[in-house]
Amino acid sequence: MSAAAGSVGSVDSVGVALVGAGRMGAFHAETLARRLRGAHLVAVADPAPGAAERLVDRLGTGRPCTDLAELWAAPDIDAVVIATPARTHADLVVAASRAGKGVFCEKPMAVTLPDADRAIDAARRAGVALQVGFNRRFAADWRAARALLDDGTLGVPRLLRSLTRDPGGFDPARVLPGTIFLETLIHDFDTLRFLNPGAEAVEVSATAGALVEPDWADRGLLDTAVVTVRFGNGAIAVAEATFEAAYGYDVRGEVLASGGMATMGDGRRSGLTFSGAAGRLVETVRGDQELFTDAYTAELAAFVEAVRAGSAPPVTGEDARAALAIALAAAESVRAGRPVRLEEVEK
Ligand SMILES: NC(=O)c1ccc[n+]([C@@H]2O[C@H](COP(=O)([O-])OP(=O)(O)OC[C@H]3O[C@@H](n4cnc5c(N)ncnc54)[C@H](O)[C@@H]3O)[C@@H](O)[C@H]2O)c1
Repeated sequence: MSAAAGSVGSVDSVGVALVGAGRMGAFHAETLARRLRGAHLVAVADPAPGAAERLVDRLGTGRPCTDLAELWAAPDIDAVVIATPARTHADLVVAASRAGKGVFCEKPMAVTLPDADRAIDAARRAGVALQVGFNRRFAADWRAARALLDDGTLGVPRLLRSLTRDPGGFDPARVLPGTIFLETLIHDFDTLRFLNPGAEAVEVSATAGALVEPDWADRGLLDTAVVTVRFGNGAIAVAEATFEAAYGYDVRGEVLASGGMATMGDGRRSGLTFSGAAGRLVETVRGDQELFTDAYTAELAAFVEAVRAGSAPPVTGEDARAALAIALAAAESVRAGRPVRLEEVEK
């Protein structure tokens, strides 16, 4: 049954197609095929020769597909997961929405605000669920911190912090000058909004450099950045990111509020500390799919439930747009060498 009315109410298992069988898409497909109840992987689409076939063969489920028109027309596909490169996202959200499919789109949902508006509008008109891949909202520590804010324990946020340190090994040829803001720090900007509920950013000040790959600096490639964000409720936040941390993948957050402080994430692979002749050793997490397995699974579970029930997803197109606006303001702040107000990027 298709999701033309935005709900597949009577369907027990939601049929999902993957668009984009790369690194992230393959993990989502595996989640749909093996880690999630209430959904099944119906098809995989990717224009790269053999990519869809290889993934379908490995998972032993779904059918490969090279023509997206086939996906949009298929009655056994209720929803799609979009995990293609960022610049293709908005058009794919629009096309999937028009076909009446629920849409889970990896971040960033769009790279310009008009494209974000187009995507939001298409999903709203079609009455389909649109969820964006801000997986940290589904990670246990972050969810617990938000619960402490929601029940009043933490009180009013004053200082917030969110950081992302990738483990390195990135291909500079795939990185654009704005990538660190639009694809990496966008998680931190969303996290800061998540941990400061109801408030929106008003001004952004950013500084960035090419410290990991100095040879690429003349191309404007930025791999290390710090961003200060001022919110409308007076809270002040810092987001930082680097594309290379020698010890692995490290994501952390902190809220200092009137009633106390919550900290999230510590980069340890487990609770084990080994003490030996060389001193004390702690094993660190090496990648996002290791640290966030549960969060990636929980976000798709929430999406599938929204599609099944015809209810609003927990992370919306509007959330994607708000984080994108902060990212664009940060990029502009680096370019202009001054603080940038959010209203400036809205023009
Ligand atoms: N939530 C997270 O923490 C997280 C982590 C990694 C990546 N991502 C996001 O996931 C997306 C994909 O990243 P990736 O690392 O998997 O990239 P990737 O390059 O490994 O994979 C992208 C795939 O999309 C395919 N593709 C390109 N255009 C397509 C189209 N029009 N239709 C169908 N397939 C198409 C490519 O052939 C490739 O196989 C990006 O938006 C990225 O930001 C999110």
